[in-house]
Order: sequence, then structure tokens, then C-alpha cells
Amino acid sequence: MFTLSSADETVAYRHLEDLIALLADSVAGGASIGFLHTSAREEFEHSWKNVFAELSTGVLILIIALNEQGRVVGSAQLALSHKANGRHRAEVQKVLVHSDCRGKGLGRKLMTVIEDVARANQITLLVLDTLVGSVAEQMYAKLGYQKAGEIPSYAAAPDGVLYPTALFYKLLES
Ligand SMILES: CC(C)(COP(=O)(O)OP(=O)(O)OC[C@H]1O[C@@H](n2cnc3c(N)ncnc32)[C@H](O)[C@@H]1OP(=O)(O)O)[C@@H](O)C(=O)NCCC(=O)NCCS
Repeated sequence: MFTLSSADETVAYRHLEDLIALLADSVAGGASIGFLHTSAREEFEHSWKNVFAELSTGVLILIIALNEQGRVVGSAQLALSHKANGRHRAEVQKVLVHSDCRGKGLGRKLMTVIEDVARANQITLLVLDTLVGSVAEQMYAKLGYQKAGEIPSYAAAPDGVLYPTALFYKLLES
């Protein structure tokens, strides 16, 4: 059983070590989420602290999933657009489930919460990108995200090799 909720800066700091471990676990598994196999723990920590700093500005929402022991086993982020012509859209970022907890529906639950939070913020369009051929790509397609296309050599996976990225979108009904 998992408990999902939106984390403010204080709550997020309380879970910093778990979040670092979650990020490190996904990178070690080959997820293309901005880091390399050579990335140091300090880079993960720095990245989370940047996320935490944005939580109070209203531009970023962090969802965390706790297991029955109160440990973070999943997270997802929603980046809102504050451009005058883009307040209806947001980007889903870094949907992560710890490798020990995959295949149990947690990724799907994180996306359900992200979409609920988006609707609550009057968001009608979600966009995201992910590695072509990844499990995440299959998950987004299954959850009704439309593939807009692929960009070759978009980002390096943790092995340092450039891979194509798939761009997805979903129109949310209110
Ligand atoms: C992508 C990820 C979040 C999925 O989390 P999860 O908790 O295992 O996903 P779920 O169990 O909720 O499965 C959701 C859907 O994903 C797909 N899926 C999950 N695992 C799969 C696998 N091993 N192979 C193929 N499809 C899979 C299925 O379509 C599944 O739907 P179904 O249960 O109705 O068949 C997880 O694999 C992960 O954290 N990966 C590393 C980080 C990453 O790449 N994140 C995306 C960054 S954009």
C-alpha cells in the first residue's frame, strides 16, 4: 500500500535522503533523467534542493509516494507554465518509482495524482518527454498520452550515449 501526497519544502527536506536514493536508483537502472552513471551523490542532492526551492514559488509541484514504513518509493513533478499564453499547460517531469516497487501500479497512481493536481490548477494540457523504447514510454501511451513525435539524439542516457526522445501530450477533460 502506498500513500501519495503533494510535498511542500519542509516535508521534502525531511525526505531528502530517500529522494536522493530514489534518483540514484533510477539512474543506476539506466533512466534518462538528466544524469550519468558517473554522476555523484552531491549532484542528486543539488538537484533535489533546486526542486525544493521551487516548491514555494508555485511553479513546481512535487508528489511523493510513501510505503507503509514511511519511506519514499516514488515521486513525480509537475512544472506549471506562467507564460501569459501558457497558463493552461504544464510539463510532467521525473516520474520515478523505486526498482523494488515497480510493476505494482505505483507509476500509474503517480500519474493519476499528477493529473488530478493539474486539473485542480486549471491545467488542460500536459506535455512530457521520455526515452524512446523505455518502460516509461509504454506507460504514458497506455495512460492515454498521444505521441507527438521523436527527436533523435536528444539526450544522453546514463551510459553517455545519445538516444532519441519521444514527445507526448494529453488533453485533460475537466
Ligand atoms: C516508468 C515507471 C515510473 C513505471 O512505474 P511502475 O510503478 O512500474 O508502473 P506501473 O506498475 O504503474 O505500470 C503502469 C504501466 O506501465 C507499463 N509498464 C510497467 N512496467 C512495464 C514493463 N516492465 N514493461 C512494459 N510495460 C510496463 C504498463 O503499460 C503498465 O500498465 P499495466 O499495469 O496496465 O500493464 C518506472 O519503471 C520507473 O521509475 N522507471 C525509471 C524512471 C523513468 O524512466 N521515469 C520516466 C522519466 S520520463
